[in-house]
Amino acid sequence: MDERIPLARPNFGDDEVAALQQTLASGWVGSGPRTAEFEQRFAEQVGARHAIALNSASAALHLAMLAAEVDGQEVLTTAMTFVSTNHAILLGGGRPVFCDIEADTLNVNPQELARKVTPTTRALVVVHYGGHACDMDPVLELAREHGLWVIEDNAHGCGGLYRGRQLGTLGHMGCYSFQATKNMTTGDGGMLVTNDPELAARVRRLRWMGISRPTWERFRPGRPRRSWMYDVEEVGFKYEMNDLAATLGLVQLGKVAAANEERRRLVARYRAAFAGLTGVELLAEREYARSSCYNAVVRVAPEARDELCEYLDRHGIDSNVHYYPNHLLPLYRPYTTRLPVTESEWRRILSIPLFPGLRPDQQDRVIDCVREFAAARVGSAAAGQARA
Ligand SMILES: Cc1ncc(COP(=O)(O)O)c(C=O)c1O
Repeated sequence: MDERIPLARPNFGDDEVAALQQTLASGWVGSGPRTAEFEQRFAEQVGARHAIALNSASAALHLAMLAAEVDGQEVLTTAMTFVSTNHAILLGGGRPVFCDIEADTLNVNPQELARKVTPTTRALVVVHYGGHACDMDPVLELAREHGLWVIEDNAHGCGGLYRGRQLGTLGHMGCYSFQATKNMTTGDGGMLVTNDPELAARVRRLRWMGISRPTWERFRPGRPRRSWMYDVEEVGFKYEMNDLAATLGLVQLGKVAAANEERRRLVARYRAAFAGLTGVELLAEREYARSSCYNAVVRVAPEARDELCEYLDRHGIDSNVHYYPNHLLPLYRPYTTRLPVTESEWRRILSIPLFPGLRPDQQDRVIDCVREFAAARVGSAAAGQARA
């Protein structure tokens, strides 16, 4: 049997190892100078005033909901996402209002957002699915009109663009993930970016127990007298990033643009290979988006999706469904509603291997498998018709 092809794989090299050795030797591995440097470099790279490093995007989303004060109010959202997005709304005391998506990108449909705004809507959260931008102009216009906070769940979209602007910097707060499968990874980690100094200050406090001053500042050389003293004004969390993760983040940040280019080339190769196939297509790329290509999603007939997943598995190829619609989960039953496009599209989608370093021979194996599968289905459909 050929080696198994994973869905995703981090692109770590000797530079991450060397950087980690330095941080380990420095004697400081908690949140400290590396984290501060990572925040500064990240803010510069995406073009935001403030970047606050956290231990996950789930933490970033939770703190964004607290900073937006959604408690007791409605938050417009999508069901086509990892549950973190919507758990954050519940953790913030908000009420998720699920809006339907566009079939070709799986992103929230701006018209649906407009249809579901009420006087108790406080915020909206958009997920740039797979790193492909939501259509942000109408979203931002709607938010301005109704005075809503815009929170971007940009877990997938680090380095992706909307009309030339960095995803994650278009709304009031942008949340990034550096979880193991993401375009840049620190094992686990996240970042919240904002241009608003008050939101930034609140998120900084909340990420570290509500404490006014980070530990590192309290012990750094040249610290003020009685620097061990701090204030606590509200309950916070243990959500800060540590310097080991930030060390990886600094190296990965330097690689993410090239890694995204490689992802784009791999997706283009899949697109060309599947172009003539009956019953298999990739998600669209709209003219306003430059996707970070977090995942490669094929769409097939609903009755073929699980069969394709099993066929790939039998041939040593991993695949996954992103995502089971959140509004159908038991937890979200109190908020459920009919979402016809979400409910039909999720049955058709399957993510196939995509990561920098996916070799041409490995990608050829995936392509051949999908082609064989499609040909066998077309063949059996034709045979069925001939018999009928
Ligand atoms: C769309 C989306 N939002 C949020 C998250 C949460 O990210 P993290 O694992 O960093 O908490 C993920 C992670 O997979 C995700 O895919």
